Amino acid sequence: MLQTAIDAATEAGKFLRESKGKSLKIENKSSSIDPVTQIDKQAEKIIVDIIKNRYPDHAILAEESGESNDTSDYRWIIDPLDGTVNFTHGLPIYCVSIGLEYRDAVIAGAVFDPNAGDLYTAERGKGAYLNGSRIHVSENEKLIDSILITGFPYDIHNNPGNTIERFIDFLMEAQAVRRLGSAAIDLCYIAAGYGDGFWEAFIKPWDIAAGMLLVEEAGGKVTDFNGHQIGADSERILATNGKIHEKMLEVLRKRI
Ligand code: IPD
Ligand code: CA
Ligand code: CA
Repeated sequence: MLQTAIDAATEAGKFLRESKGKSLKIENKSSSIDPVTQIDKQAEKIIVDIIKNRYPDHAILAEESGESNDTSDYRWIIDPLDGTVNFTHGLPIYCVSIGLEYRDAVIAGAVFDPNAGDLYTAERGKGAYLNGSRIHVSENEKLIDSILITGFPYDIHNNPGNTIERFIDFLMEAQAVRRLGSAAIDLCYIAAGYGDGFWEAFIKPWDIAAGMLLVEEAGGKVTDFNGHQIGADSERILATNGKIHEKMLEVLRKRI
């Protein structure tokens, strides 16, 4: 099944690479800053066709086409293009993310970054890998030595919540805070040790399913903002190297 996630992610990623520079049909979804293009939809079809062909009875939750068959114990969770805003501007930070759940727990995941040519993979209990080599989270223990990464929700204009306040809270504690525009890549970067902690609220299952397993299998920790264990359906995620987890929770708790 991991091989199927890899095949589908790399096939769709190849399509994204070939689609660079094509004229885009852009529609807005939940808000005027939440775009989807024909490329998102076509990439999703490539993935869904591969999975349905090999596992016709499995459930699928795909960002652009929704949920199908909820009677199976297996559920594939698909983001065909994570980082659509970046993609529409030609900013090369986006990826394909595919996670597989068995009875509500993510057991396998593949994230493919077609610009870097990087494939991140993980299977529950078997470690996390980048292009076939084992990866591990960072060792940083202090926020002041840490790069933190976050994302902003699409309804921020109408529902700013505590997004800006939390960004400032962490900015005042960390070495640096980054906003890259692709939650799946953000999580892979935590798994690979390029960053030390990632938080985001109002997140969707397809943004985090594969990436959260990658972080855990790379030796990191994943919870909600209260420190509770989460599944892919959680709206809030904190994913860290484990060592700065409590410190990040302390900062997040200020605004709960
Ligand atoms: C978005 C990106 C972004 C995150 C948003 C996501 P999309 O996904 O992952 O970094 O901040 O919450 O919705 O729409 O590009 O697939
Ligand atoms: Ca996404
Ligand atoms: Ca997407």
